[in-house]
Amino acid sequence: MHCPALPEGFDFTDPDVYQSRVPLPEFARLRRTAPVWWNAQPHGIAGFDDDGYWVVTRHQDVKEVSTKPEVFSANLNTSIIRFNQGISRDQIEVQKLIMLNMDPPEHTRVRQIVQRGFTPRAIRALEDALRRRAEQIVEEARHRGSGDFVTDIACELPLQAIAELIGIPQEDRARIFDWSNKMVAYDDPELAITEEVGANAAVELISYAMNLAAARKGCPSKDAKDIVSRLVAAEHEGNLGSDEFGFFVLLLAVAGNETTRNAITHGMHAFLTHPDQWELYKRERPGTAAEEIVRWATPVVSFQRTATQDTELGGARIKKGQRVGIFYSSANHDPSVFDHPELFDITRDPNPHLGFGGGGPHFCLGKSLAVLEIDLIFNAIADAVPGISLAGDPRRLRSAWLNGVKELRVHYR
Ligand code: HEM
Repeated sequence: MHCPALPEGFDFTDPDVYQSRVPLPEFARLRRTAPVWWNAQPHGIAGFDDDGYWVVTRHQDVKEVSTKPEVFSANLNTSIIRFNQGISRDQIEVQKLIMLNMDPPEHTRVRQIVQRGFTPRAIRALEDALRRRAEQIVEEARHRGSGDFVTDIACELPLQAIAELIGIPQEDRARIFDWSNKMVAYDDPELAITEEVGANAAVELISYAMNLAAARKGCPSKDAKDIVSRLVAAEHEGNLGSDEFGFFVLLLAVAGNETTRNAITHGMHAFLTHPDQWELYKRERPGTAAEEIVRWATPVVSFQRTATQDTELGGARIKKGQRVGIFYSSANHDPSVFDHPELFDITRDPNPHLGFGGGGPHFCLGKSLAVLEIDLIFNAIADAVPGISLAGDPRRLRSAWLNGVKELRVHYR
């Protein structure tokens, strides 16, 4: 079905589109005219034997797909929609070892174990350490006078948060950060990260984490507070094997870093282009701000599922085996759910955005940690560099599924 409102050949996972913008006007047209739309990829993608995928644009339909794992599988073709760089079937098989790409009951077993590391108590236990980190990061930026907000501020706290959570020793953190950074952004030629460099970094990170798990299994830390002890060595029902732990750390490094980094960067840019909201934030620090920042940023534009049976969704007939893209960016601008979705309003309440997923079994495990990080960093910025101002336009990341910014020049004073 060609949508007359869209240019012929338009693809909602074309990294060139996202290098300049998120296609919000195109999403709006689809929500009005063809809310579940067939995005043809007539030339196919290496590793796939299909010729396109469905684009799901409405809030209610994104939720429906997310909450029906028996109909919409995260496992068959994994969760990331690919554009033209392709992927081999072998690579797809390896990626199925990550929980984001598992279906129940396997997913349920792993999720129940890893959830122990993300209880409200576990996250609260990190708060003081992360607050100090946030203040230190902003203080260092202030001394520089001006610089790139992404590297100076947005990158650092998410990396530190994951390192704290896992209990990675200080002296190993630089290596972990280097591997994590190399694993993302393979679509952007400017970053010169070849697939091989990314894959090697992933292998190194996994083996580092496996060694950490193996060591802790033999000698659990005394208070067993760190996540490694809790997941692999604690006396609970069911534990992760060292290899499973390795893949879990890999997922944390991808899922918890770039996402939070971009939420913080887009949030800062939104504040600096909506000065009334920045003034309001500095004055009142509303507890609703972090959620609106995530809605506004929607760092993960889309994920995909694959239909396990013929089914119907939003008026479209989906065939067994077809891929279905759930577009969180579109859902988060659906006017049937949000009053004036085009407004950045840090007091928005309620705010049922789908930036952390559509509420199904894969709903973001790190949501509380992400919200805490966003709160801590903007409080630190508002306290230490309230006069922060823009020194240039954001430079966007070339990516098929991340709403990313790689550089944002600012003056801190
Ligand atoms: C603003 C920051 C973040 C955003 C926007 C975000 C977004 C998402 C989304 C959209 C999903 C998939 C949901 C679904 O398929 O239904 C997800 C899953 C996940 N996220 Fe996050 N995330 C963020 C931060 C984090 C952090 C800080 C961590 C951990 C340190 C984390 C760990 C995970 C994990 C492990 C999963 C997979 C869960 C599963 O498969 O069961 N995320 N996230």
